[in-house]
Order: sequence, then structure tokens, then C-alpha cells
Amino acid sequence: MRERILNLLYQRKKEYISGEELSQKVGISRTAIWKHIQALKREGYKINSQKRSGYSLISISDLLLPYEIERDLKTKILGKKIYHFKEIGSTNDLAIELAQKGIEEGTIVIAETQTKGKGRLGREWSSPLGGLWLSIILRPEILPTQAPRMTVIAALGVAKTIRKLYFLKALIKWPNDVLIRSPITDHRSPFKKVCGILTEMGAEQDTVNYVVIGIGVNLNIDIKKFPVEFRKNTTSLEKELGRKIDRVEFTKRMLKEIENFYLLFKKRGFAPILKEWKKISATLGKGVKAVSGRRIIEGKAIDIDSDGALIIETKEGKQEKILAGDVTLL
Ligand code: BTN
Repeated sequence: MRERILNLLYQRKKEYISGEELSQKVGISRTAIWKHIQALKREGYKINSQKRSGYSLISISDLLLPYEIERDLKTKILGKKIYHFKEIGSTNDLAIELAQKGIEEGTIVIAETQTKGKGRLGREWSSPLGGLWLSIILRPEILPTQAPRMTVIAALGVAKTIRKLYFLKALIKWPNDVLIRSPITDHRSPFKKVCGILTEMGAEQDTVNYVVIGIGVNLNIDIKKFPVEFRKNTTSLEKELGRKIDRVEFTKRMLKEIENFYLLFKKRGFAPILKEWKKISATLGKGVKAVSGRRIIEGKAIDIDSDGALIIETKEGKQEKILAGDVTLL
């Protein structure tokens, strides 16, 4: 109902539509229309009301509301069902619950802010207002050991979105942090993390039941809102571009880009994904220090193999393979 009112206002944005016309078209009373308008205003829509002329939509809400994301969404699978919350513990936790109950592939969970955002390796993930905190449920036919491939698909989708929408050179630091730097700073300024991805799955022996890809992107965020220890290596799109960005546009585009890579994977396997990943890797060819469990390996990152593992050549000329862990660029 609310969506229909919104669509009517949207079609004639900045013009006035009378309460009478809305009430006839939607089939509810003028008082009911008024109530929906008030609710839309509370959601952040700017709507002018004039006694004689009716209602006029001035600007849409900045919240990541399902009806904004769904409008002209170009995907076939991702975002066909959207759950949105002003606040949640962790979008991944709810997505896991929904996935266990059998919800369809492509369902997404979005929150404006998370109180218990989860990062990789058991870390906390700071999730203030203005970011994109979203989880995608997928049901790919893969082996449980291949789940990291889904993370790569998501990282590529995020990096492509940033490249296409803002012409920034987004890179992927192994395994799946997306990094950017300002287009106006000099070449020596470091690339910083703008997005992190946490993939969790439900599996039995050789079968994956579901994969939940949790994506956190720092969109319109003042870096000072992050804990001090993260500020050195973390940035936001707002900071690097020097302006606010359209979060709804970003989300829609990102879902489309991720879906493109996912469909490519389904059709042609991991090889073309790996090729794309290597092209925009921030890690390959660089001196790195990798921490994987108790192992600490220093050397040059020379390759990513077909399992997604990082191959490091040490000073002694030995090749070491890292499947999971953290990498620092030296
Ligand atoms: C990392 O440590 O780099 C991964 C961070 C992943 C954060 C996202 S935000 C949406 C989703 N919900 C969570 O609790 N975590 C992921």
C-alpha cells in the first residue's frame, strides 16, 4: 500500500497530487493516505503537503529501504527478497537463521547500524550509521572447502562497483579486503580498507546448504567514528571522494555486479573469476607478511592458486602456501 502511494508520488516527483486522486487510485480513504504520508516522512522522505494541492515528493529517504532498492533493480536473483532493519545485532546472524529455515537464494538482510557486527577471525566490526551492512544468502553447488570462492566473487563485485561509479582504482588485498585511495592525493599515499567481507556457511559433509556473505562497506562515514586503532588503515568513500554518496545507488549497483560474477562462476567455473581477481590484486608482486594461525611468513606474494590460496616466496627461495589468515603489505 505504502509502496503504491510512494510510486505514484515518485512518477510525478516535485509535482502535486491531490489527496483525492491518491485515495481513488490506491483505494483507501484520504485519512489513510495522510497516515501513510506521515509514516513516509518518518522514514526520511521529504514530502510537501498543501491543503489545496495535495502532496509532492521532494526527495527520497537516505535509508536503504526495500522499496528504494527494489525500484528498477536489474538483478535476477539478488535482492528479490529484502529484510531491512534500523538496528540489528548482526545481519549475518539473521541471514544464517533465515537460511537455516530454507529461505530462497538471493535473499538479503540490510541494517542501518549493527550493535554486534562481526569481522573476520572473531574480530568486532564497527558499523555506524551511513555505511552499508548487508548479508546475502546464496545456495551454490560447491564443496564446503570452496566457500572462499564466494567471498572473492563478492569482493570483485564491490571493487567493480567502486571503479564504475566513482572511477577510483579499487584493489583487493588478499583474501578479500577492498582498498581505495583518494584520486587527488599523491601516489605514495597508501591504499586503505573501505570494505570487509565475512562469509559463513552451513554444510554437511560434502554439501553446502547455504552461504551467507556479509559485506561491510564504509560509505558515508566519518572515520573519527571508528575506534582509534583502525583509523590508520581504514577509510570511507565519503572521505576519499570528498562528498556524500548515494547509498541506494551503490547498493543496487553492487548487487548487480556481484550477481554478474556469480552467474559467470555458475556458467564457467572459478577460472575467469581468478583471472579478474589477479588483475586487481593489491597483494601480488608485493612484499608481504602473512599470519596464518601460528605461522608467520615473510616474502614476496607471487601467485594466487586455483584454491584461492596465496603463494609466498620467502627470502630463502621457498614457496609457502597460505589458505587463510591476515596479510600486511610491507
Ligand atoms: C572483515 O573483518 O573484514 C569482515 C567484515 C564483515 C562485516 C560485515 S557487515 C555485514 C555483515 N554482518 C556482520 O556482522 N558482519 C558482516
